[in-house]
Amino acid sequence: MKFEIATARTDEFLDVAALDRIAWPNMNDTFIPDGEHIWRVWCDHATLLVAKVTDREPFSETNEIAGALVMFPSRNGELFLHKIMVHPVCRGRGVGTALMKNALEGAPVPVLLTVDPENSAAVSLYEQFGFRPRERIDGYYRPHEDRLIMEHRPSSST
Ligand SMILES: CC(C)(COP(=O)(O)OP(=O)(O)OC[C@H]1O[C@@H](n2cnc3c(N)ncnc32)[C@H](O)[C@@H]1OP(=O)(O)O)[C@@H](O)C(=O)NCCC(=O)NCCS
Repeated sequence: MKFEIATARTDEFLDVAALDRIAWPNMNDTFIPDGEHIWRVWCDHATLLVAKVTDREPFSETNEIAGALVMFPSRNGELFLHKIMVHPVCRGRGVGTALMKNALEGAPVPVLLTVDPENSAAVSLYEQFGFRPRERIDGYYRPHEDRLIMEHRPSSST
């Protein structure tokens, strides 16, 4: 599979929203993907990167979206990496790595994210990019849903 990273075009927000509905490992009756409205807002106002396949495989068309990442400034002057997701059939081929590399390149301020501490694939990916735990919040959503806050500091800071 060949792919390229690009900033999402406005007319791609529905494709990213569709990916969000299938990309998550722990989908169940209580999983609520982000709505189409917010994907349109992020397309226009946040950093929304997409990985597009350029050689059809594993899809039937080129330009299908293999993965996406959304990041935006937080009110504390940091960046918040809200979500990274890769299509289930495209995993393990470097798409997540390429999205992270592109998003973090030259980030001048700390980047924060939250992750399920049990999501070892995601935690491992983040650690490879230098993210370190800042705080663990038990019961972040519901009592049984804990969350790790991880932080990436710009390379010039100590
Ligand atoms: C996490 C995710 C984005 C990784 O994307 P990917 O394209 O498969 O990642 P890559 O192929 O670039 O792999 C990069 C690194 O991620 C980690 N990783 C990826 N898949 C893994 C797995 N199944 N088990 C453990 N580590 C894994 C490894 O550290 C890997 O590096 P390595 O190849 O040197 O071992 C993808 O699994 C995904 O979309 N998961 C569902 C959504 C999700 O959980 N997002 C994060 C929420 S906070």
